[in-house]
Amino acid sequence: MKVYIIGAGPGDPDLITVKGLKLLEEADAIFYTDSLVNDQLVHRAKPEAEIVPTAGMHLEEIVTEIVERVREGKTVVRLHTGDPSIYGATLEQISLLKKQGINVEIVPGVSSVFAAAAVAQAELTVPDLTQTVILTRAEGRTPVPEREKLEELAKHHCTLALFLSATLTKKVKSALQAAGWSDDTPVVVVYKATWPDQKIVRSTVGTLDEDMRTNGIRKHALILAGWALDSSIAERNYRSKLYDKTFTHGYRRGEK
Ligand SMILES: C[S@@+](CC[C@H](N)C(=O)[O-])C[C@H]1O[C@@H](n2cnc3c(N)ncnc32)[C@H](O)[C@@H]1O
Repeated sequence: MKVYIIGAGPGDPDLITVKGLKLLEEADAIFYTDSLVNDQLVHRAKPEAEIVPTAGMHLEEIVTEIVERVREGKTVVRLHTGDPSIYGATLEQISLLKKQGINVEIVPGVSSVFAAAAVAQAELTVPDLTQTVILTRAEGRTPVPEREKLEELAKHHCTLALFLSATLTKKVKSALQAAGWSDDTPVVVVYKATWPDQKIVRSTVGTLDEDMRTNGIRKHALILAGWALDSSIAERNYRSKLYDKTFTHGYRRGEK
């Protein structure tokens, strides 16, 4: 008895994995977060499959309905936006399912952080500039542990990827400033990455809050911040060791 928890990807229905799509096409029941998963994906289900949108349901309701279908011998898919491991609220579902003797198999997906980087044509880890990306959120109604406050994390001066923070950009701006980020540090906001109404807003720490307001972005946005997001970075000469012709590694001897 098992449930498949599948990452649907960021929006574009072609960005689900082949494995995820196969399971979706074979499923008897599909529970999906209709607030963010593209309907077009759900249309890939077989005609007789039962489709259950879950945005209006609470945890116990969702799990009870899933358990019922699994006990009837049905193949059940739980479709989550992006990758299920990031702010997916999967743990609480898994733990209730396990209490009912039901296992899960998780199929990863393309997280919106990588979709946002792709559409912004950004490399988040630039040699000699930053080799670290922190995935986090600004503190809103959901508390963030003291040691993970944005101001503390930002002191690393690496690339930051902020989920669930579109309405909190005043806080983001002051946390980054308090961590010593200059006002001209680049920030890219991607609204609904890979959806037809996607918007890419190139901003800075100093103008972030104003730019969010001007563009009317209050949800479904990924905020990428740091010098790796500088739009003129490709014109500078950042080079990795991997493709340096003088660098020897397991697959190539470097030239003298
Ligand atoms: C509940 S979290 C789920 C994240 C998801 N598991 C992932 O890996 O992308 C929802 C947040 O993810 C981000 N998000 C999800 N899809 C997005 C998209 N297509 N474009 C931009 N941000 C997105 C936004 O920050 C949104 O507030």
